[in-house]
Amino acid sequence: MQNSIIVTGGAGFIGSNFIHRWIEMEDASVINLDKLTYAGNLASLQAVTESPRYQFVHGDICDQESVRRLLETHAPRAIVHFAAESHVDRSIHGPAEFVRTNIEGTFKLLEEARRYCESLAPVARERFRFLHVSTDEVYGSLEPQGPGFCETTPYAPNSPYSASKAASDHLVRAYHHTYRLSTLTTNCSNNYGPYQFPEKLIPLMILNALQGAALPVYGDGEHRRDWLYVVDHCDAIRAVLVKGQPGQTYNIGGEQEMSNIEVVNIICEVLDKLRPAARSYSKLVQFVKDRPGHDRRYAMNISKIRRELGWEPKESFKSGIRKTVEWYLANPQWVSGVTSGSYRDWIKKQYQGASN
Ligand code: NAD
Ligand code: TYD
Repeated sequence: MQNSIIVTGGAGFIGSNFIHRWIEMEDASVINLDKLTYAGNLASLQAVTESPRYQFVHGDICDQESVRRLLETHAPRAIVHFAAESHVDRSIHGPAEFVRTNIEGTFKLLEEARRYCESLAPVARERFRFLHVSTDEVYGSLEPQGPGFCETTPYAPNSPYSASKAASDHLVRAYHHTYRLSTLTTNCSNNYGPYQFPEKLIPLMILNALQGAALPVYGDGEHRRDWLYVVDHCDAIRAVLVKGQPGQTYNIGGEQEMSNIEVVNIICEVLDKLRPAARSYSKLVQFVKDRPGHDRRYAMNISKIRRELGWEPKESFKSGIRKTVEWYLANPQWVSGVTSGSYRDWIKKQYQGASN
C-alpha cells in the first residue's frame, strides 16, 4: 500500500478546493477520478496540473472495472468520495442521474473498496479509510426555533438529491457494520467559495449582479441555511481522515445561519463596495416562484467534531464572502469558461417564467 489517496469528483467545486489544499498541506499524492459532467471543470485544477503529486483520471465511479484497476494500480491508503450530482433544482427536473451516480456509484465504489481491502495485509487493511462526503440535507427541515442537526438526528430527506445522498450514507454505514470496511461519513452544511459552479445561490447572485441581471430569490427569501467557507470544509475532511473513528459520522458547519435574503443582501453590500454601480445591486432582487418541497431551515450542531477532533471553522461569513466575491472578480476567464452554452440552457430552463 502506498501513501497516496484517491479522490472522486475532484474536478467539482469542493473536490478541486480539496485537491489544492491537499497539495499545499500534505506530502502524499492525490489521484483524481472524475467523469467531467457539466459540474466538473479541469480549469479549476490548473494550478496543480504540473505537480508530480497530482494525477487526473477521466472515468465514472459507476464503472466498476475501471475503479478496480485504479485501486490495483495505485494501492491508495484512502478514498475520499466527493463525486455526486449535487444540485437540488436539477434533481427536481431529472432525478434519474442522482439515483445512478449518488446511490449506484457509491455502491460500486464500496464494493471495490471492500474487495481491495480484502486483498490487503492486516496492517494495511487497518490503515485504509473510505471517507464519504455527504450533506446536512439528509436530516430534512428544522422547525424555526429548534436546535441544529446532530449526528443522531433521524434522517428525513425531502428532495431527490437529499434522498439519494441519504441512501448512499446508509450503504456506507452498512459496509462498516457488515464488512468492517473502515468508513467515515461527513455531513456538511452549504459551502461557498472559489470555483463554485454558478447554478448555486452564492455564485449565481454574484455573477447575475455583475451582469445587471435579476437576483432570483425563491419564495419569501426566509429559508435559512448554515454557510461554511469551502477551505474550512476541506480542513475538516483532512482532520476526519486522520483522526476520525471508523464507522463514525461527523457533522460539519460554519455556525453562520442566515436567511437567503440576508445572504443576497450581504453579497450586494460587498459588491457595492468592490465594484460600485450607478445604484445598489440590491435593487436587482426579485422574489420568484418557490422551489417545490423547499426545506425551510438547516442548522448544524458541530460539537462532536469540535470536541473529538479539535476542528472548528476559521472564517466568518463576513470574511469568507468577501474572499469569495474578490475571487469571482479576479477570475473572469474561469467564469466565462463555465457560463457558456449548456449553462445558459440551464438558466433558461430553471428561471424562465419564474417571477412571482
Ligand atoms: P459538484 O457538483 O461541484 O461536483 C461534483 C463532481 O463530481 C464533478 O466534478 C463531476 O464531474 C463529478 N461526477 C459526477 N458524477 C460522476 C461520476 N459518475 N463519476 C465520477 N465523477 C462524477 O459538487 P460539490 O458541490 O463539489 O459537492 C461535492 C460533494 O459534497 C457531493 O457529494 C455533495 O453531495 C457534497 N456536499 C456539497 C455541499 C455544497 O454546498 N456544495 C455541501 C455538503 C455536501
Ligand atoms: P442552493 O445553493 O441551491 O443550495 P441548497 O439547495 O443545496 O441549500 O440554494 C441555497 C438556498 O438558496 C436554498 O434555500 C434555495 C435558495 N435559492 C434561491 O433563492 N434562488 C436561487 O436562484 C437558487 C439557486 C437558490
